[in-house]
Amino acid sequence: MALGRFISFEGSEGCGKSTQIERLCKRLQGIGHEVLLTREPGGTALGECIRDLLQHAPEGENMTPEAELLLFAASRAELVRRVIKPEISSGTFVLADRFHDSTTIYQGVARELGDKIVSMMNNFAVENCLPDCTFLLDISVTEGRERIRARSEGKEDRMEREPDSFFEKVREGYLELANSNPERFVLLNASKSADELELEIWDNLNKKYGVGS
Ligand code: TMP
Repeated sequence: MALGRFISFEGSEGCGKSTQIERLCKRLQGIGHEVLLTREPGGTALGECIRDLLQHAPEGENMTPEAELLLFAASRAELVRRVIKPEISSGTFVLADRFHDSTTIYQGVARELGDKIVSMMNNFAVENCLPDCTFLLDISVTEGRERIRARSEGKEDRMEREPDSFFEKVREGYLELANSNPERFVLLNASKSADELELEIWDNLNKKYGVGS
């Protein structure tokens, strides 16, 4: 049996990852592929509890950046071993709504914990299980914020309440990471329409892996 593919989607708040993941999932299923969607933090029972602590629970307010890094890593360690690795081995396409690059950027760059410690934590959490391809949906901080405001109706989560300066660092960090890893990253302009982006993603996957053939 052929091994599955592991595709991650990255980008700042409001970039439209979830919409594109759902669309790609439908296309892949439509031509007979097994597909699994994951999200981070989350994707397992333990991971979803961690997600609540990281985003909504009052106990998570004002957590230190170090505790935050360890919680994201714990959620990922569980997801990789319980879900992603077994699914890839059985031939499934895994579409991940965020993976290790989020930690590299949000904790390493925006929280300024630095590349050394964050790489170490990422390596420990993922145990050589890395995406074959990563789509980065790039959007301006202003446009991303507008989209978030429109959908959260004043109930922004702990991360979404960070100031624009935080998200500027996130955006710049992602662009730099994508530019220095062109073999894995596909950089997309997320202010294009959802239909245009869907086609670009599909074309890219076909060029790389011939998924539709
Ligand atoms: P979202 O995926 O629904 O946008 O929410 C996840 C939030 O958590 C988002 O603000 C990015 C943040 N995050 C990190 O800071 N580090 C990580 O490693 C991951 C996976 C997410």
